[in-house]
Amino acid sequence: MDQSLSRCASLHLALQCIILLAALAIAVRALTTIILHTDPISLYFKCSVYFSAYPYGLHYALSRDAIVEPYKVKQMFESIAFSYDFQNSFLSLGQDIRWRRALARSVTIPQGGIVLDLATGTAELAIEICSRHPEARVIGLDFSPRMLAIGQKKLRAKGLSGRIALNLGDARRLPFRAESFEGATMAFGIRNIEERHEVLGEIHRVLKTRGSLWIMEFDCPDHPVLGRLYRLYFDHILPPLGNWLSRTDYAYTHLMTSVHRFPPEDEFGREIAAAGFRVLGIRRMSLGIAKIYRAVKACPSEAV
Ligand SMILES: C[S@@+](CC[C@H](N)C(=O)[O-])C[C@H]1O[C@@H](n2cnc3c(N)ncnc32)[C@H](O)[C@@H]1O
Repeated sequence: MDQSLSRCASLHLALQCIILLAALAIAVRALTTIILHTDPISLYFKCSVYFSAYPYGLHYALSRDAIVEPYKVKQMFESIAFSYDFQNSFLSLGQDIRWRRALARSVTIPQGGIVLDLATGTAELAIEICSRHPEARVIGLDFSPRMLAIGQKKLRAKGLSGRIALNLGDARRLPFRAESFEGATMAFGIRNIEERHEVLGEIHRVLKTRGSLWIMEFDCPDHPVLGRLYRLYFDHILPPLGNWLSRTDYAYTHLMTSVHRFPPEDEFGREIAAAGFRVLGIRRMSLGIAKIYRAVKACPSEAV
């Protein structure tokens, strides 16, 4: 009896070992297939987009569009971050610095106020705001860790780490409480995000009532002659030159197509208003190559 019991137990143990080994073999096989057939960098980005989206709900995290489009944009900025500032200034002949300065100059916030700089990238605008407004503090937010890492280096070098805090996050789901900021800025970021209404809604949520918003974005000049010359440069020279400089084959093609896809100024103005803002004006710079949209969060009674 004892013997048959112990034989039964050993048989059971052997069976368990076989099942365990089979499961292990399947797992190893699946893992090697994934490793051999996946580009590790792209896997990393897919995972990071997935997990940064996860807290906002499984549906959002698993939605294909919510993953694929931002993933491509994020991957693009991750790969061009190493020389983003140089590419910008070289290809715009230094105009980008002038445009950010103009935006920073127009920022007006109450003393001690905090500005949220969305799509802050390498923190150029955040730094410009702090140098124009000695009292201001800025929270920068971006979803590209490499762009932020370059920004962080600049903050340390300029001694601004105490006034500017950089956060990793998605502009479509801001990790901030409602009514937290006196002002919000976004330079050359909104064009990269399909879900503009979500971003505008989130900015509206985190701004205090009467808080101000400045959005700067590219456009094409509507001057009949200069506009055509600019389009020649922007559509045919900039993409290959920029792609070569950024060592990608798509970054500046994306810039060109995203600018053409972006709505005209009056339509974008209506989108801003639909999110609960009062649009105060649109400033055109360099014949309209860059435009600053200025708006204020309306009181609930004023909202359209
Ligand atoms: C053209 S860069 C502009 C950077 C900076 N504002 C400037 O003036 O140079 C666009 C930035 O938007 C960021 N971005 C794009 N989509 C985003 C999103 N959904 N959430 C947060 N950042 C985003 C990119 O990572 C990139 O750093």
